[in-house]
Amino acid sequence: MSEAAAEAARAERPAKSSAFHELEVHSVKHYTDTLFSFRVSRPETFRFRAGEFVMIGLEGEKKPILRAYSVASPTWDEELEFYSIKVPGGALTSRLKNIQPGDTVLMGKKPTGTLVTDALRPGRRLYLLSTGTGVAPFASLIREPDVYEYYDEVVLTHTCRTHAELAYSEELVERTKNDPLVGEEAAKQLVYFNSVTREEGARTGRVTDLIRSGALFEQIGGKPLDPEHDRVMICGSEAMLKELKEMCLERDFIEGSNAKPGDMVIEKAFVGEGV
Ligand code: FAD
Ligand code: A2P
Repeated sequence: MSEAAAEAARAERPAKSSAFHELEVHSVKHYTDTLFSFRVSRPETFRFRAGEFVMIGLEGEKKPILRAYSVASPTWDEELEFYSIKVPGGALTSRLKNIQPGDTVLMGKKPTGTLVTDALRPGRRLYLLSTGTGVAPFASLIREPDVYEYYDEVVLTHTCRTHAELAYSEELVERTKNDPLVGEEAAKQLVYFNSVTREEGARTGRVTDLIRSGALFEQIGGKPLDPEHDRVMICGSEAMLKELKEMCLERDFIEGSNAKPGDMVIEKAFVGEGV
């Protein structure tokens, strides 16, 4: 092929599409020294299921630095929302915590995950059990109209070390109950329960202990976990997942997956040191 023909062929070839979407940061909200949320533009072509995660990152010196992040906004939202930790010295979050409106964040093109209603069999009550930033996928699910059609009741629990760390979920539930699309359903069907483990307050204790003692069910007016009617999604640290998963298995819950729906599904909120 002549040089001119090769040049023409190159010009006709479509530009290689980037592996990432480049998203404009629209707003950022800091809750504590270690927690913040941000909202970004949503590519028209980006589709996901409520509860899924995607890779989020920033350009690095040699290559982009990317980490898994749950989408914290519902599927109908024009923007995408994320809720983030700030890890001191963390490769991504020590920079991500400084983003400002107008900055660019990278996002992978393939959302995935198991905290989706497709991985659960139909049931009457859906429990969404979270600690720390593990509440992020549930921030998407509780704003999804389908969830209130599939389940009579949706119970969101969020446990953190301190009250200040509960601010995001408190605000989220308030927003959801006043939302024009799902507010009416959420006001009737959404139950929010939070607790802290390293401060005094009205509700203290790990969610595992509150389930074992029955205190959780007493406070929300429900019955102990039963696989006949209840479905459970769990998101938190590896230790929390391990313990809660064992508790569910002891109660005859069957773990579900996208390929084979069950009674409960789990997902790590982060990968711990040395794992
Ligand atoms: P890293 O080098 O990734 O982490 C350093 C250490 O910080 C970890 O070993 C761990 O001990 C601790 N750590 C990391 N993330 C967290 C966290 N979220 N909470 C408590 N301790 C943590 N993070 C979010 O903030 N929001 C999310 O929605 C989110 N979704 C995730 C979904 C999945 C499926 C997985 C596997 C992880 C998710 N993470 C989420 C964690 C995230 O991928 C990064 O670990 C986090 O952004 C910190 O990145 P880093 O590079 O600053 O530090
Ligand atoms: P605790 O303060 O008793 O450790 P972290 O910030 O370490 O991820 O913890 C978030 C919340 O998860 C804290 O309230 C913590 O309680 C709680 N937690 C830690 N380990 C477990 C576990 N194995 N089961 C249930 N909750 C846990």
